[in-house]
Amino acid sequence: MNSNHASGGNAVEDDVAAVPVAPIRIFDTTLRDGEQSPGCSLRPRQKLTLAHALAELGVDVIEAGFAASSAADAEGIRTIAREVREASICSLARCHTGDIEAAVRALEPAANPRLHVFISTSPLHREHKLGLDKAQVLARAVEGVTLARRHIADVEFSAEDALRTEPEFLVQIFDAAIAAGASTINVPDTVGYTTPAEIRALFEYLRRHVRGADGVVFSSHCHDDLGLAVANSLAAIEGGARQVECTINGIGERAGNCALEELVMALKVRRAWFNVDTRIDTTRLVPTSRLLARSTGMAVQRNKAIVGANAFAHEAGIHQHGMLKHRGTYEIMHPESVGWMRSHMVLGRHSGRHAINDRLTELGFGFDEVATERVFAAFKALAEKKREVFDADLEAIALGIEPGLSRGWQLVRWTVHTGTAQGSMPTASVELCAPDGSAVCEAAVGDGPVHALCHALSRATGLALELDSYQVQSVTTGEDAQGQATLSAHFNGEELNGSGTSTDILEATAMAWLDMANRCLRASQNAPRINATEPLPEATAPVAA
Ligand code: KIV
Ligand code: ZN
Repeated sequence: MNSNHASGGNAVEDDVAAVPVAPIRIFDTTLRDGEQSPGCSLRPRQKLTLAHALAELGVDVIEAGFAASSAADAEGIRTIAREVREASICSLARCHTGDIEAAVRALEPAANPRLHVFISTSPLHREHKLGLDKAQVLARAVEGVTLARRHIADVEFSAEDALRTEPEFLVQIFDAAIAAGASTINVPDTVGYTTPAEIRALFEYLRRHVRGADGVVFSSHCHDDLGLAVANSLAAIEGGARQVECTINGIGERAGNCALEELVMALKVRRAWFNVDTRIDTTRLVPTSRLLARSTGMAVQRNKAIVGANAFAHEAGIHQHGMLKHRGTYEIMHPESVGWMRSHMVLGRHSGRHAINDRLTELGFGFDEVATERVFAAFKALAEKKREVFDADLEAIALGIEPGLSRGWQLVRWTVHTGTAQGSMPTASVELCAPDGSAVCEAAVGDGPVHALCHALSRATGLALELDSYQVQSVTTGEDAQGQATLSAHFNGEELNGSGTSTDILEATAMAWLDMANRCLRASQNAPRINATEPLPEATAPVAA
């Protein structure tokens, strides 16, 4: 590390490293560790769109899923492997023949496939999850890496719960994994337990003691249970990690994973300190974050670093005064450098197919002609209502278009009556098109207009969703701005998120509610999935070579 401080307190672009910088690989696991967490599930089409957006962002590796967890995951990885050529495409697999073979099949069309095999190494996991002793775990790891290498040249090995594993055992297992052919060694803090000083020391220790350390890339994979995932990943880099595993918006198991946008901007803003660099096009951070938030229905908190709505807002008068004199007084990076306020030709009523098509491509959507035509028709309808159509508007339309998918429940018409007149109760009526194409009409009263509307939707669909939270925020500016409603609810013990966007916030609310209903519908049609951190059912079965 370097003792330089950022030059003169200016913004990001001024912080230039004094010595040549080392490359850091960005391994994105939004579509695997992120997607497997509650409320973040994605449809295959959305996964592909996001994979294109991640490649455009410049990530080095896309972990596209866990092939053995479900047929849908395997198919999703295969599609991404076939269509996304700019990044290496990876599947996770346990050190188990069936998993590895499923991953190999799914990765078959990839230009640069990576197989990521893992096994738990900590005493707690060895005893309670796997029922294996150290020697058995070690043998499993070697068998897994050896089998993976038989099919794919680029193999990553992870020691799950590494930060609670005896360091000497980590050295032993990493020695063996490298000898068996792994070229990336991942050291996950699976439960978000470590601290910056501890993880830095562990990476230094491993690089000193593991045989063949100089010929492999060490990788960090930090979870955010103590809110330290980004700080720990940066400390791992200081200790010698040259790959960081992270997710957009920090989504992931429990409190999430290391947030890609925060890590990347810390490395960029403090480049002279870290002396490392990534290939990320930082101007794509906000669009990619927004695409993910819309696709999952999981909104980004307003004060989230880099991509939250308040990240560059200056409210206090004293701050505004300073900003007017010199932006550097209260701003350490330019909003434009992370993709806020990109100047664009505004789309409107007179925009043609060509302009829409170009903008869709730029936003990361890869649509065929039929889908583009559907987006164009919806765009024209919106442009009749709104003077200017922004990127966020177009994204909202495009994310509603799912070629080849049954459209689920759709909102046809709605009315809400509300007010303070004595004796009147908020009343809502809805007309829906059911998944089988039939029309369903229902009405209900409620404590307020939103309650009445959700009640009517619940009656019409027959789904008793238990609402947990409700938020509305504007996604564009001006009098005709679109509002985004975000809902979260429980159904049969499962957490659901949904979002909807419209120029009318009650309509956006109804769309968000139906988004959740459609997620329930799809979940009931899909096969159950295995979670990557669940114990192996056949944990003690030998791995056949
Ligand atoms: O958190 C973890 O340990 C993981 C591994 C499967 C890499 O996600
Ligand atoms: Zn993880």
